[in-house]
Amino acid sequence: MARYIVGITGASGSIYGVRLMEELLKRNHEIHLVLTNNGEKVLSYELRKDLKSIIEELKIFNEKLLIHDINNLFAPIASGSFKVDGMVIIPCSMSTLAEVSSGASKNLLGRAADVCIKEKRNLILVPRETPLSPIHLRNMLYLSEIGVKILPAMPGFYHHPESIDDIVNSIVGRVLEGLGIENTLYSKWCGGNFND
Ligand SMILES: Cc1cc2nc3c(=O)[nH]c(=O)nc-3n(C[C@H](O)[C@H](O)[C@H](O)COP(=O)(O)O)c2cc1C
Repeated sequence: MARYIVGITGASGSIYGVRLMEELLKRNHEIHLVLTNNGEKVLSYELRKDLKSIIEELKIFNEKLLIHDINNLFAPIASGSFKVDGMVIIPCSMSTLAEVSSGASKNLLGRAADVCIKEKRNLILVPRETPLSPIHLRNMLYLSEIGVKILPAMPGFYHHPESIDDIVNSIVGRVLEGLGIENTLYSKWCGGNFND
């Protein structure tokens, strides 16, 4: 059993975050979830459900899902002495990306990411925006240079997805891989024939 922090922000693609949590809970891992204010609103809007029912559905897989208030800087994940095995912000807005790259730590999500960076722990950001401005690109480059994994929600189509679930899984599978968790959510490329 490992312990992960999952952050959900107000970028489009909350479905990726929910899918990731399902996979982590199925594997009996502990999750510390932090949603930004707009993260909660976009999640309810895109999934057409309120946070409470999403949490109830997730808890069917495993009860080890702890939700923290974004403003509670007294939460355990605000401290480096509280050990975690990794953190993923999925989806990650350009606003939160900028906050993490500046080290401003204005709320619990920014602080938890800052802790991961200072403690040299695995931090994965799944940004979603298009087009990307020079500010966004510069922030991503900087974070990548200091060891943060930038794993954009940019699904590939060479595995011939047949549903939204296939597309979502292709990104979530990569995130799990980034956390060192073996999975079969996405098809690994073993070479292909141009005529296939
Ligand atoms: C429906 C909706 C979709 C959005 N999609 C994105 C997006 O894909 N990427 C992004 O950076 N911001 C997006 N935004 C804007 C962010 O929610 C906004 O910048 C917010 O301040 C982000 O704050 P947060 O990082 O604290 O959640 C979206 C907003 C709404 C209402």
